[in-house]
Order: sequence, then C-alpha cells, then structure tokens
Amino acid sequence: MLLPSLLRAVIASICLGSTMAQEVTQDQPATSVVEKMAVTLDCVYKTQDIDYALFWYKQPPSGEMIFLVRQESYNKQNATEGRYSLNFQKEARFISLTITASQLRDSAVYFCALKDS
Ligand SMILES: *[C@@H]1O[C@H](CO)[C@@H](O)[C@H](O)[C@H]1NC(C)=O
Repeated sequence: MLLPSLLRAVIASICLGSTMAQEVTQDQPATSVVEKMAVTLDCVYKTQDIDYALFWYKQPPSGEMIFLVRQESYNKQNATEGRYSLNFQKEARFISLTITASQLRDSAVYFCALKDS
C-alpha cells in the first residue's frame, strides 16, 4: 500500500520597502500537509501607505526564488493564479495564500512580501 506523502511548507517574510514603518510577519510554524490536500499560509503586515502591493514567493530546496502571485491593495477582488488563491483582508492587514491540490513539489519556504506602490 502506498502512503500519501507529506509535504512541508515553511514560511518566512520579506519587506521590500524603503521605510521602516513597514513590517511583514508570518507567525505560523512550519506546516505539513498530506499530498492533494489544501494548505493555507498566513501573513500579516503593517504599512502606512495607501497603495501597496503584496507578493507571495516560494523558494524550493533548489534555492531559486519563484514568484507566485501578486495582490494590489486597491484590488477589490482576491487574486488567484492556478492552484494559488489569496484571501486579502485589507482592513485587518492580513493576506493568506492557499495552495489547493498540493503536490510534493510544493515543499518550499514561502515568502510574503510587501512593496510600496
Ligand atoms: C477575499 O475572500 C475572502 C473570503 O471569501 C473575503 O472575506 C475577502 O473580503 C476577499 N477579499 C477581497 C479583497 O476580495
């Protein structure tokens, strides 16, 4: 019998801004999920800007940084890109990334990033 494999997601944050007023926090511990299940990674941030953009990146064990999906602060709809979907709560300064139908190759460090517009 084949057991479903576990994949692992670790999250970290990065802030691409010039001002120190900005902050991105990913408090979740490393998450493991069984293949094919969905996994959600949370991110909260601080900014005094009105217009900004949020990005999710992943860094697989091979090391390169891969851009996944972007959310503009003025966008009234959650951005989605293939199996990646976002839950953007502007008032709460919260954005989560959900990966559906997870695959082993999703194992990575995931970065939430904030940038002034
Ligand atoms: C994103 O989806 C969540 C859950 O459906 C909703 O609460 C939130 O308002 C949405 N955000 C935007 C920017 O549409």
